[in-house]
Amino acid sequence: MIGIFDSGIGGVTVFKEILKYLPNYQYLYYSDSNNNPYGDKSEEELINITENICKYLVNNGCKVIVIACNTASAICKDYLREIFDIPIIAIEPALKMVYDYNYEGKTLVLATKGTLNSKKFKELYHKYDNHKSIIYECVGLADLIEQDKKEEIKEYLNKHLGGFKDIQNVVLGCTHYPLIKQEIRDILGDVVFYDGSLGIVKELERKIREIGLQESKQIIVFEDSSNNSLKEERFYNCLEK
Ligand code: DGL
Repeated sequence: MIGIFDSGIGGVTVFKEILKYLPNYQYLYYSDSNNNPYGDKSEEELINITENICKYLVNNGCKVIVIACNTASAICKDYLREIFDIPIIAIEPALKMVYDYNYEGKTLVLATKGTLNSKKFKELYHKYDNHKSIIYECVGLADLIEQDKKEEIKEYLNKHLGGFKDIQNVVLGCTHYPLIKQEIRDILGDVVFYDGSLGIVKELERKIREIGLQESKQIIVFEDSSNNSLKEERFYNCLEK
């Protein structure tokens, strides 16, 4: 079994990519909407929350865990990797992709406060900075996406991104953001998006081979910490889109 978790529905954008390449495995997706948003939480709170989720996933038979959340990855991955003896795969904002594919392009990096303030992000940024990047902290945006507040999302984007001109690359540094690509394009025009999900797939494939996890019939189990049945419906809707 492969465990995947996020603060809610955002990790679906990663899970979709995983299913494209690795369809024949058993998956347990844990949506922690009870603790959403992660982006404004302290390091201590997040470590406590994610440690409990990983324990739960391990106790339910997961042999590898994917942190499908940039915030939790940036803040907790080193700690979690130290205390669990199964592979823990973590997403990161796709700054390297911009560096490799369009270094000259004016770039907007969007992420949560937690991700942008983390040591991991700062290291990544200094390694792959193209000197044409604007970093923007999207406080509250993941929460609006989680709650599917369509009108408020439009207003938010208008207010916060409306002033940016000539952006070519947009790094979606939060797994919730790929769910609103069209809405972002409506404001910024024909930009190219970059996110970390393809990197996750490659890493997961490698780890699966390393630990010898066998292919099986596809099974997807969804769990949500707030026990809200609407979350499950939304999860499958997002997965099918
Ligand atoms: N989807 C998460 C991320 O990638 C967390 C968003 C949040 O809960 O603030 O950062």
